[in-house]
Amino acid sequence: MEEKYSSLNDFNNSQSEYLDLIFEIMEKRKRSDKPVAYIRTYGCQQNVADGERIKGMLYKAGFEFDDKPDNADIIIFNTCAVREHAEDRVFGNVGALKNLKRKYPNTLIALCGCMMEQKHIADRMYKSFPYVGLVFGTHALHIFPELLYRALSSGKRVYMRDNDDSLIHEGIPVKRDGRFKGWLPIMYGCNNFCTYCIVPYVRGRERSREKDIILSEAKDMINSGYKDITLLGQNVNSYGKNLKNGVSFSELIREIDSFDGDYWLRFMTSHPKDCTKELIDTIADSKHISKHLHLPFQSGSSRILKLMNRHYDRQKYLEIVNYAKNKIEDVSLTSDVIVGFPGETYEDFKETLSLIKEVEFTSLFTFIYSPRVGTPAASMNDPVSAEEKSKWFQELLDVQEEIASKRCKAMVGTTQKVLVESEKGKDGILNCRTSGNIIVEVKGSDEYIGTFQNVKVTESGNWILRGNLIKE
Ligand code: SAH
Ligand code: SF4
Ligand code: F3S
Repeated sequence: MEEKYSSLNDFNNSQSEYLDLIFEIMEKRKRSDKPVAYIRTYGCQQNVADGERIKGMLYKAGFEFDDKPDNADIIIFNTCAVREHAEDRVFGNVGALKNLKRKYPNTLIALCGCMMEQKHIADRMYKSFPYVGLVFGTHALHIFPELLYRALSSGKRVYMRDNDDSLIHEGIPVKRDGRFKGWLPIMYGCNNFCTYCIVPYVRGRERSREKDIILSEAKDMINSGYKDITLLGQNVNSYGKNLKNGVSFSELIREIDSFDGDYWLRFMTSHPKDCTKELIDTIADSKHISKHLHLPFQSGSSRILKLMNRHYDRQKYLEIVNYAKNKIEDVSLTSDVIVGFPGETYEDFKETLSLIKEVEFTSLFTFIYSPRVGTPAASMNDPVSAEEKSKWFQELLDVQEEIASKRCKAMVGTTQKVLVESEKGKDGILNCRTSGNIIVEVKGSDEYIGTFQNVKVTESGNWILRGNLIKE
């Protein structure tokens, strides 16, 4: 039996009341002193940011969090649909919960995130895993308390998806995972419909948050000690297009940059079709924006870019990159690339290799094309075998490894400002990150974690640097 809901409530109006009701139910149901939740998030930072909102709501309902599902009263999988591999992992991990549910029948298992906005997948999971008690899609995040309450109080399965109202629901509490590194969503959804990509189907139409809300959230983060703030959106360059006052992304980041404090400002993802010279000038002239541009090119072949519906060609991409290299000193460029798009030939692939060599990226996120049901590319002719694509993929990794290693070597002897992020094991080694997003390992005490330091680079590996802290 299941319950379906069509009514939508703004978070502030009634959802907080459901959190109180959940608290009361959990007082009787919990296995430990406090109710415990386990949340596993897959996919991109957008999902991570959603996960932090789910945690925020649960925290308000009295929950604490554990990194083991065995200890949890509520288990939540926040899923990603971008590639088949990501989906397979979720199927495997949810399947593995069968015994746990047998042992603790009162544990509620919930599935949410992008996979749940694909009907065929959500239906399959709902049928395959009868012990899943709650399914909700990305568009139901703001009514999570209501849905959770229904599932807990009725004992019936709750299934809620496909209720895109194209609205932004503000006021959802946030519990950030990081103390000094944080995500700040500035927009949701995507209008680009790249032919390989599922995101516009599972995240809905592009909509931007009001500038004043973003500015006040950024200010709060800076004031509470955040040192590395990343603005999030699937295509941040088109920020503001749906807003009445028509503010641009460059204007937004100029305003944040004017806030006092010692912090870095980053953003992702930039789409090359909307990446303007004004934006690059803004980065170059800023005080806090990191000199790093993540600019996915996807393919070096203009023919494939057209089939991908990317709205730029190889030449346009290289023009932006060259402008950025000239304007921003020591700019660090990173990118996403897909190998084996339907119809891609080895000649096309060689253009991808030559673009990589020409740009010399700091690092790349590399993907083998994965067909997604419902996207135009999934029905295109795809004659190249998986084996052949894997060979191309390996060739690309080898080329990029050489470039990254050369770039790292060139940094030996320089002094870099880094943010100390974490301990690496227990040998007194700290992981730090440069403004250009390169990891630097240094020896030092954990009291430096969360602070900016200067490091003299002494050694380089293929992807990382090693160095010494420069003590003042
Ligand atoms: N909005 C961002 C990317 C979001 S998805 C942008 O446009 O850059 C992150 C990356 O996953 C994409 O850049 C792309 O390289 C990859 N990707 C998306 N769909 C894919 C698919 N079907 N197969 C393989 N890789 C894919
Ligand atoms: Fe997907 Fe393209 Fe939108 Fe990025 S811009 S999320 S790749 S459709
Ligand atoms: Fe995955 Fe959804 Fe992000 S499909 S990549 S979690 S927007």
